[in-house]
Amino acid sequence: MVDIVCIEGQKHIPLSGEVTVGGAKNASLPLLFSTLLTAQKCILSNIPDLEDILVTLKILKAFGAEYSYKDGVIDITTKKIISTTAPYGLVKSLRASFWLMGPLLARAGSAAVSLPGGDAIGTRPVDLHLKALSEFGAEFRMEHGVVYGTTPGGLRPADITLPFPSVGATHNALMTATLIPGKSVLRGVAKEPEVVDLAKFLNSLGADIQGAGTDEIYINGKKELGSATHSVIGDRIEAATYLLAGAMTAGEIVLKGIDQDSIRSTLHLLKEMGCEITNHENYIVLQGPEKLKAINFSTAPFPGVATDVQPLFLAALTIAEGVSEIKETVFESRFGHVAEYRRFGADISVDGRTAIVKGKSELSSAPVEAHDIRAAAGLVLLGLVADGTTQVREIHHLDRGYEKMESKLRNLGAKISRIPSVDFREIVFGC
Ligand code: UD1
Repeated sequence: MVDIVCIEGQKHIPLSGEVTVGGAKNASLPLLFSTLLTAQKCILSNIPDLEDILVTLKILKAFGAEYSYKDGVIDITTKKIISTTAPYGLVKSLRASFWLMGPLLARAGSAAVSLPGGDAIGTRPVDLHLKALSEFGAEFRMEHGVVYGTTPGGLRPADITLPFPSVGATHNALMTATLIPGKSVLRGVAKEPEVVDLAKFLNSLGADIQGAGTDEIYINGKKELGSATHSVIGDRIEAATYLLAGAMTAGEIVLKGIDQDSIRSTLHLLKEMGCEITNHENYIVLQGPEKLKAINFSTAPFPGVATDVQPLFLAALTIAEGVSEIKETVFESRFGHVAEYRRFGADISVDGRTAIVKGKSELSSAPVEAHDIRAAAGLVLLGLVADGTTQVREIHHLDRGYEKMESKLRNLGAKISRIPSVDFREIVFGC
């Protein structure tokens, strides 16, 4: 028995109206993990109501955190770390849980965290995390799928260069360095807005971090951190999703709740596809064209085109005029969604890390299955413009990354609903 989302395609009816994006999941997770670095109270607001957040809170509780969570505000304090073993049942569903390793080592001196497995978008190794943390003096061994970290001689400041700007390795190293007294430097780091948000929060806890958002971060580590209140940045991937919904239906979307600098590459691609974008101080207006144009792009670390928007743009390009070429440079196998997109009649071929999309004027609805968060959103976008009624299954993926997606799309005029706990062998036609 599974929940499914049903979408009635209405290609010729523009989606229009105002939509406010929620707090960024990918910023909320490291912020929550970093609360383990202090014994004092942390108050985080604009936290999205998502499955991944609930799992993270349960994990933190196992380490001794006490919290309340209401209306997007988490009030959390971990006076004492009562365990350093991450419960497998919880961490296995959350790949980012490996980011616990740094804060636990820094605050408690040891940690046991299960190795994240591969998933629909790639193998997700943690070698860069381990390399960085080893340079601070941590030692690791792996047994039965669990990585055990210890700090036999204590942790020491270090000057570390990441060979690739991994977002997670940057978060892990940054959190750790913050609680190692002395000067550390992190070079070749990720410049994503979520890294900047983490550094901002840590600074308000009393850390001394400079350079976040550039290639090099300078940290003057402290013995202990204090208390802080912080509001999480808006979700740039959610923002791209609603802008593309407008773009694909020739709609007019008024988008609020996002720092426009964080979505510059997305706005650039949308303009190339023929959308008109007007930037105002606190909102953006997108007007979709009658017909989208094909484009070529490669994904890249920030400020390049985010790999997380690739499945969303790929969905839109299936109905664009002309042939598009998309290169995925961040994850080695992130075209798993293509097989499901083809069920709509989309013309996409994949050769290694490149996808070629020949735009079609009509797509037809289909029963489809989501395999990861952004692929799930891509399927919803396709359902909005395909002829007939689309059923998207495995939508727990959607719930991991999108807060109130159906109601937000309904407010824009979409015909989308959720059917709870359906035995899908009984669904033959429609919803
Ligand atoms: C984060 C985001 C994810 C996004 C990704 C890239 C969260 C919760 N997740 O994931 O949505 O798609 O950034 O922007 O914020 N790599 C290694 N060794 C490592 C670590 C990474 O080889 O130790 C490789 C990965 O396999 C991948 C690339 O580096 O090919 C980028 O990964 P990374 O930036 O670390 O992604 P995440 O932090 O896992």
